[in-house]
Amino acid sequence: MPVTSEEFARAARLLHQRTGIVVGEHKKEMATRTLSMRARKLGVQTVAEYLGYLSQNPDGLEWEEFVNSFTINHTAFFREQHHFETLKTFVKTRKAPINIWCSAASTGEEPYSIAMTLLETLPNAASQCFIWATDIDTQAIARAERGVYTFDRVKTVPEPLLRKYFLRGKDEKNGLVRVKPVLQSMIKYEPLNLLSPRWPTDKKFDAIFCRNIMIYFDKETQTKILERFAPLMKPEGLLFAGHSENFTYLTNAFKLQGQTVYAVSR
Ligand SMILES: C[S@@+](CC[C@H](N)C(=O)[O-])C[C@H]1O[C@@H](n2cnc3c(N)ncnc32)[C@H](O)[C@@H]1O
Repeated sequence: MPVTSEEFARAARLLHQRTGIVVGEHKKEMATRTLSMRARKLGVQTVAEYLGYLSQNPDGLEWEEFVNSFTINHTAFFREQHHFETLKTFVKTRKAPINIWCSAASTGEEPYSIAMTLLETLPNAASQCFIWATDIDTQAIARAERGVYTFDRVKTVPEPLLRKYFLRGKDEKNGLVRVKPVLQSMIKYEPLNLLSPRWPTDKKFDAIFCRNIMIYFDKETQTKILERFAPLMKPEGLLFAGHSENFTYLTNAFKLQGQTVYAVSR
């Protein structure tokens, strides 16, 4: 289906208002394919009709599909390894219970890496640590909760951890691994839009992971989210950002501690 510049701009505006994600002109080809596919699935004849349907049904189920098809879920186990070294040292200095929010959990590689790090560092991690893992993408969260990965996906997990925390699939599950229940028991998965006015938690966090998501947001959205994170942090709590994210000039709520790790200001 053809997509005009106006339709692309309208789709980008709808997505931005709902999720904070900015879709640049360079994504127009991908957006055209996605919008055409969604329009066909919804059973409408044109992308204009599709966008009209979204606008008129702000609570409609199609919104979930629209958002899911624009998210970029790229992630990996132990991505940006140095953060897990910092986490190890940091959690040794904290009092139980330790709460960590993984706020763009994608398909689960990041929260499971956090859980393994905690288990390897603290003797009672399974009972004393809690990880809240959220993402706007409902399909990604469902995959994260399942905890099933191909061998290729787990190649960045060190061999001893792979043996300790994963089960190998047999027969028709050959080539797949599944995380052990101990990892799942430490994590609560929930769909959550960081732009939603209420974040359903009454916890204070020792650390928040918000990695490789802010790059998709404009500066205003980034600042608002950072200023909402700050009151949820325990004193001296840490915020982990992605390798190309820089929050230094956005707000005084956090100060850079080193290598894309920020400490909450008090
Ligand atoms: C590139 S992935 C990063 C995953 C992981 N944090 C990492 O660094 O490997 C970005 C994730 O942000 C999620 N996301 C995008 N907009 C969001 C929003 N408004 N609220 C919550 N999650 C969002 C996407 O669904 C996607 O899974």
